[in-house]
Amino acid sequence: MSHESPATDRPVTTALAEAAATAGHAPSVHNTQPWRWTVLPDALELRVVRERQLAATDPEGRLLALSCGAALHHARVALAAEGWRVAVERMPDPADTDLLARLTGPRRIAADPEAMRLVQCMQVRHTDRRPVSDEPVPTAALGEITSAVVAEGVQFQLLNRDQVMELAATASHAATVESEDPQLREELAYWTSRSGGTGLPPEVLPESAPQTTVPARDFGRPGSLPVGPGHDQAAVYAMLYGDEDEPDNWLRAGEALSAGWLAATRLGVSLVPLSGVVEVPGTRQTLRGLLAGLGFPYLVLRLGIADPAHAGPPHTPRLDVAQVVDTSAVRTDRG
Ligand SMILES: Cc1cc2nc3c(=O)[nH]c(=O)nc-3n(C[C@H](O)[C@H](O)[C@H](O)COP(=O)(O)O)c2cc1C
Repeated sequence: MSHESPATDRPVTTALAEAAATAGHAPSVHNTQPWRWTVLPDALELRVVRERQLAATDPEGRLLALSCGAALHHARVALAAEGWRVAVERMPDPADTDLLARLTGPRRIAADPEAMRLVQCMQVRHTDRRPVSDEPVPTAALGEITSAVVAEGVQFQLLNRDQVMELAATASHAATVESEDPQLREELAYWTSRSGGTGLPPEVLPESAPQTTVPARDFGRPGSLPVGPGHDQAAVYAMLYGDEDEPDNWLRAGEALSAGWLAATRLGVSLVPLSGVVEVPGTRQTLRGLLAGLGFPYLVLRLGIADPAHAGPPHTPRLDVAQVVDTSAVRTDRG
């Protein structure tokens, strides 16, 4: 059975497969890319890949769902950019919790120019772990990033000076807890010594610990990225949070992370997630206190203007499309 749109258009299955491929640009914790897409005749399904879950660091699957949520948002935007509207069902099957989302009922609409710009941003977005420059982040840009996050149904709080100081102490404590846990160290060592399209290569990791207000993640080994002259004084810290703390909230938080990060990229703002503080249960609880009981923390972000004079890190590698997008249900060739 064919589900093709008008003759001049490509089949909907091509659009779904291409959106899933574009979603491969999404950020993920330790570049685990813990997702797999299945293209169906008129739907696209997103599943977690448990083998790429951080079993020791992320046993509950918070960062797994956040990462997959980022990929889901990328796919949604890619479809909108190509002129497709879909309905999104999150966690559609209570009996199958590895199925995170199903995109159904694709219908032709006008291509969305804003989504087209965001698809371009997907191709340039990357994590730059160097200290940020002394140039302040424009207030208007912070407003736009906040709006992009909030539009995904997730709360966004910019932290004041006192909160940043408390965050710094909390991040330092989380780093100590994680560095003292042999299982976490082993997991980090695994994901920082991979080849084959996942994990973090040395080129994207700082060659020495960057001097940041809030300690960045200690990857346990030096990389080869020069940290440059930035002082990080102008960095802004923010928190993604919400009313509940369940897997569908983490998925939404991932969508919001993607929306905020793509908006930041469009505005020339560098964004780095800091997840150590939410990985350690005790420090996640401290963050809750920092929010004064307003909600549950999902992720901390550092925002700033990257040093424009020195080259930043290269792109982090990705898995081949064939490893993350299954088109076997719609393939017409028998090859
Ligand atoms: C949920 C989540 C948590 C992350 N936590 C951290 C972190 O604590 N420290 C860090 O330097 N990068 C963190 N990252 C960034 C990833 O390492 C990065 O997205 C991945 O390596 C792919 O690289 P790219 O963003 O340059 O494409 C996180 C990303 C996600 C989605």
